[in-house]
Amino acid sequence: MRKVVLILFSCLAAMLVFSYKNYKREIIPLKDIFKDKFYIGVALNTRKIWGRDTAALQIVNTHFNSVVAENCMKINALQPREGHFQFREADKFVDFGLRNNMFIIGHNLVWHSQAPDWFFKDHNGEEVSREVLIERMKKHITTVVSRYKGRVNGWDVVNEAVLDDGSWRKSKFYSIIGEDFIRLAFEFAHAADPMAELYYNDFSMAREGKRQGVVKMLRKLKAGGVKVTGVGMQGHLSLDYPKIADFEKSILAFSAEGVNVMITELDITVLPTPRRNMGADVNQNYAYKKEINPYTDGLPENVTKQLAQRYIDFFRLFLKHEDKISRVTLWGVTDADSWLNNWPVFGRKDYPLLFDRQYKAKPFVQMISQIPAKE
Ligand code: G3I
Repeated sequence: MRKVVLILFSCLAAMLVFSYKNYKREIIPLKDIFKDKFYIGVALNTRKIWGRDTAALQIVNTHFNSVVAENCMKINALQPREGHFQFREADKFVDFGLRNNMFIIGHNLVWHSQAPDWFFKDHNGEEVSREVLIERMKKHITTVVSRYKGRVNGWDVVNEAVLDDGSWRKSKFYSIIGEDFIRLAFEFAHAADPMAELYYNDFSMAREGKRQGVVKMLRKLKAGGVKVTGVGMQGHLSLDYPKIADFEKSILAFSAEGVNVMITELDITVLPTPRRNMGADVNQNYAYKKEINPYTDGLPENVTKQLAQRYIDFFRLFLKHEDKISRVTLWGVTDADSWLNNWPVFGRKDYPLLFDRQYKAKPFVQMISQIPAKE
């Protein structure tokens, strides 16, 4: 009888140790796993910045050591009308970052999208001159960067100025000022906070043309003595695009230009996309159809596995190049947050992030934490 009790007791003890270890394992914070390798960041939307999503904020504080605002620092949010700056939400965001010891990223200073019409027009509705636009850009950048001087650690200074074929995007900034708008934006930002890190950020960076275009731009800026600290490779990925090898080529190419590489805006869509290489152009939208929203009742096992493998493969790549990569930032906390539920088709259910709609880490997060640093 004593023997049976002893065996039962040992079994119970073993079970307790096992579940404690699993529990411990599940809560290893990502920021501890990637400590000494790269910052692990996350984008905060309005609900989080205003403290209305406390479960998500707990995840942010446990797992992440860098934050970026998903929307509230864009030109249309900060200066919707000329000279009328609105800093309430951005201030709140920066306070959150400072209180929680985060590496804070400002996103973004110059972007063709989300720049209000007034920025490019005079009082008669006519397009402004080069001089006026430069002055407006200077005022915007100087006002914003000075306000957060010494508090925001790095800025996405210019966003998405190069097209997939490597040519310049024919934005208003480009057509009115010329390619010089990029140099000027970096110079204005540097003058306003000489210590801040300054980045160029873009999507589809694994594409050959874009890679070459961005490298060319970096060389020109460098030759002109312009400070560029890093390049953000937006990680809007899908299950089969892009090829890891192409993404790696770009990490190597940008790093060879003497800048830090950051993986920004990371998410992996599992939904069918109208084109294989969708990029992340918010202006491309397609009509909703039931058949292109296949996972409304949950993600099937086989797709869950593909998503897990894809995340693991990419994190393996990031760890392989941890000497070149200074930050990896997820574009949202839980699947419920993701812009991909509404792009390129409005009203679908996607599963692109590390935490599910119940605020639980997906099982593969545990597997990411077990990838050896160098293989
Ligand atoms: O704030 C309004 C809200 O008042 C209104 O009720 C609601 C109705 O749809 O719209 C809200 O604004 C939306 C905003 O997101 C906040 O949810 C805008 O319509 C919508 O266009 C905006 O989309 C953002 C998009 O950039 C454009 O700014 C996405 O959340 C954001 O994830 C996305 O992020 C961009 C990066 O900044 C740059 N790289 C590509 C990436 C994905 O497009």
